[in-house]
Amino acid sequence: MKRFPTLTISNHPLIQHKLTYIRDKTTPKKVFKELVDEVGTLLAYEITKNLPVRAVQVETPLESTVCHVIQGKNVVLVPLLRAGLGMVDGVLNLIPNCSICHLGLYRDHQTFEPVTYYFRPMAEPEERMFIMVDPMLATGGSAIASAELLKKNGAKNIKFMCLVAAPEGVEAFQHAHPDIEIFAAALDNGLNDNAYILPGLGDAGDRLFGT
Ligand code: URA
Repeated sequence: MKRFPTLTISNHPLIQHKLTYIRDKTTPKKVFKELVDEVGTLLAYEITKNLPVRAVQVETPLESTVCHVIQGKNVVLVPLLRAGLGMVDGVLNLIPNCSICHLGLYRDHQTFEPVTYYFRPMAEPEERMFIMVDPMLATGGSAIASAELLKKNGAKNIKFMCLVAAPEGVEAFQHAHPDIEIFAAALDNGLNDNAYILPGLGDAGDRLFGT
């Protein structure tokens, strides 16, 4: 029995190569962002491999043939603010028509409850695939609350995409949302006392935005 049945780690050599330079602290900000986008594109390819398709008739220059196009409503990309923004362009390279549903929440310092500060629900959510994106799945707290919010608003088909996951975050997320598949480029060793992933890549938001 797999320890994390909902987790898929992509061991593709291109992803692992790019992740190495993403982890490297000497990688400059511009290259870091480009590599995060590139891994985002490759992970999105993996995540969307089971999208439903329908047959269409096409006239090639030589003859008529049956081909396939993606069926149904646009995929919805859900970047978790703020670091999730860093993977949006990479997914858009692959799925230019996807809708983008920004989601911002923070944890109240006194109640520890998640507070949503930005969210605009999608129309017809039950007919769409939602791809949540956040480079780091650390404790899983904001990912769990974000997925709850999407479900409350009608989402039925949700995937979670990150660069690096910590076992603690995967455990918590899969316990809260056993129906949501997690796609990551790496499963790391664990969290330090400040909830940073080890070995990780540092603070993804800081490295993406330089603040
Ligand atoms: N968020 C980050 O940006 N990095 C970590 O290691 C953990 C959470």
